[in-house]
Amino acid sequence: MEEVTLKSIIQACQFEELDDTERRLVQMAIDATQHSYAPYSHFHVGAALLLSNGVMLPGCNQENAAFPAGLCAERSAIFAAGAQYPQESIEILAIAARDTHGELTNAPVSPCGTCRQVIIESETRFKKPIRILLYGKDKVYKIDGIKQLMPLSFTEF
Ligand code: THU
Repeated sequence: MEEVTLKSIIQACQFEELDDTERRLVQMAIDATQHSYAPYSHFHVGAALLLSNGVMLPGCNQENAAFPAGLCAERSAIFAAGAQYPQESIEILAIAARDTHGELTNAPVSPCGTCRQVIIESETRFKKPIRILLYGKDKVYKIDGIKQLMPLSFTEF
């Protein structure tokens, strides 16, 4: 038997090290946390997308008393992009969150498994990796493509 090691590469940097566009997008994700509807978890997540036409779109989590009916911030942004700009690929996705005390998290918040699967779908659809920026007050993770976060993902062939 042979052991297979899977390796992920992530850049950890400071907010100030991001370029102007990346900083604006992270700021949009931070601002979007204020529009989150999270009366059950009190965990307010914001996302922001940069599309290939230059449009920046926010998203935030939307909860529901019937839990599975709610939606994560990332998917709310990605599905809104699909509805409004179906031909545009996603270039960058930024994510930020406020904890139950309303404070921006110190550590970067990472997308859930379902959102990762949806991000993969978008990369596959447009044949382009999506740069992912995970904001935390202490550091920002910069990731070149969802494959770094979801190796061995499902493909049909
Ligand atoms: N949440 C997101 O918005 N994105 C994720 O990737 C993980 C979790 C939301 C769902 C729920 O409203 C709250 O965070 C707590 O799980």
